[in-house]
Amino acid sequence: MNLILLGAPGAGKGTQATKIAERYGLIHISTGDIFRANIKNGTEIGKLAKSYIDKGELVPDEVTCAIVKDRLTWEDVAKSNGYLLDGFPRNLFQAEELDKFAKLDGVVNINIDFKLLMDRLCGRRVCKECGESYHVSTLNGATTCARCGGELYQRKDDNPETVGSRLKVYEEQTAPLIDYYTKKGIILNVTGTEAPAEVLFEQVKALLDDLAKRA
Ligand code: AP5
Ligand code: MG
Repeated sequence: MNLILLGAPGAGKGTQATKIAERYGLIHISTGDIFRANIKNGTEIGKLAKSYIDKGELVPDEVTCAIVKDRLTWEDVAKSNGYLLDGFPRNLFQAEELDKFAKLDGVVNINIDFKLLMDRLCGRRVCKECGESYHVSTLNGATTCARCGGELYQRKDDNPETVGSRLKVYEEQTAPLIDYYTKKGIILNVTGTEAPAEVLFEQVKALLDDLAKRA
């Protein structure tokens, strides 16, 4: 089963992706995580990506598409039940490119009230070791991960100005993909506004169990 996870910044793509990948045996591919790993390792791709990510803009399509196209050829993907793309595609060009080298079964679209996102993102703290996300309001001052003890940090793009740009880019460039995949008949809509992550995952699971039966 090959899936895309679509949703605004902070909608909960990464949170749901971990759960989906585990349940269905899929390889989780997050372009944002790939770029952040490259930035950490000081690669040429990392240097290029940083200049866009820090402003909340999209990394150029040629670079991003080439990374995903290559990642899908790795052995772990061939040996798995499929893959889950998180944060790709992000505009119509990327979606059309993806159609040239991938066969998709479904697109999970997380709808969310935009009013929640600024606080969710600016208050997010992420574990450096395992990637677990927290909100500062529930940490009671803790600076380490409850799951693995790793140090928590704040993503550099989780500040009001950059979040503002990311939301604008989403509305202008990424939101049209909902229509694109609806027309293809493969969209699966869930609503993340009220639901805690576990409850949202129940909605996702119902849709994907049904899709898996039909696949
Ligand atoms: P990327 O890393 O993809 O970031 P994003 O799309 O902005 O989304 P986030 O990772 O911030 O949020 P999320 O939806 O994963 O939410 P999460 O689960 O963490 O991209 C970063 C940058 O890289 C881009 O701006 C761009 O520059 C570049 N890039 C990436 N892909 C690219 C591409 N294809 N083309 C070009 N450039 C690209 O949850 C957020 C918070 O909410 C967490 O604290 C979490 O604990 C909490 N939360 C989650 N679910 C719930 C819930 N149900 N209820 C309450 N709280 C919740
Ligand atoms: Mg994410």
